[in-house]
Amino acid sequence: MTDLLQVTNITAGYGDGPAILDGAHLTVEPGKVHCIIGPNGAGKSTLLKAICGMLTIRQGDVIFKGERLNGLRPDQILRKGICFVPQERALFPKMTVRENLRMGGFTLDDSHELDRRVGEIMERFPILKERADQFAGTMSGGQQQTLAMARTLIIKPDIIMLDEPSLGLAPKIVQEMFDIMKMISDEGVTVLLVEQNALMGLRNSDFGVVLDLGRTLFEGPAPEVLADPRIQELYLGGKKAA
Ligand SMILES: Nc1ncnc2c1ncn2[C@@H]1O[C@H](COP(=O)(O)OP(=O)(O)OP(=O)(O)O)[C@@H](O)[C@H]1O
Ligand SMILES: [Mg+2]
Repeated sequence: MTDLLQVTNITAGYGDGPAILDGAHLTVEPGKVHCIIGPNGAGKSTLLKAICGMLTIRQGDVIFKGERLNGLRPDQILRKGICFVPQERALFPKMTVRENLRMGGFTLDDSHELDRRVGEIMERFPILKERADQFAGTMSGGQQQTLAMARTLIIKPDIIMLDEPSLGLAPKIVQEMFDIMKMISDEGVTVLLVEQNALMGLRNSDFGVVLDLGRTLFEGPAPEVLADPRIQELYLGGKKAA
């Protein structure tokens, strides 16, 4: 299968600061869920930020559909089809669900088309239709995360990148979020997420990427990552993965 996105051993840091990423690589296949795991401070969030153009890439390449993205601005990368949902979700709490969905399509010029897509998304996510006129900030964590994910779909992206979408959510709700990611990927939108709970993340993904100290230690099909004794020892608490 052709790679949709390829990150080749990149080096990147904040401003003129030290390299936070140094030897980070990953390969993303279309229509699959990819999960980045690793300890706190490993550079997981930094890797997503580097892909979406928020950091300067000092060495290595980010190649998307055969095109080099290095040096492009975040808005240019968004228009190419890579959408990023940061950890804090970046919703507009004092705007309604419908307004938040419309904001997701700010790069679209055609407002009728935007309305049509917002309607389409609300049909797919009934909870958002039900809450269309409610302020986003008054919804539960799971509903807000659903809105954050659904909002990215307005522009029909190729890839959505999610930084810890499960943060602060109850386990049952976390599973619902993974089910949504699976549904999205089955519809052809590739998912790249960072997950703190390595076991849960890998069990719900097709591919796993293990990052530590800014570099990729291991990358492969999620069942293989789960079964690797080194990974079990380091990140899965030595637990045997079922
Ligand atoms: N805005 C910033 N400016 C300078 N250094 C930063 C910035 N953000 C993160 N860092 C540094 O980059 C390193 C990696 O941080 P990053 O947030 O990418 O890790 P992470 O793997 O996402 O960790 P966590 O699991 O805690 O979210 C850390 O040493 C952190 O201090
Ligand atoms: Mg992080």
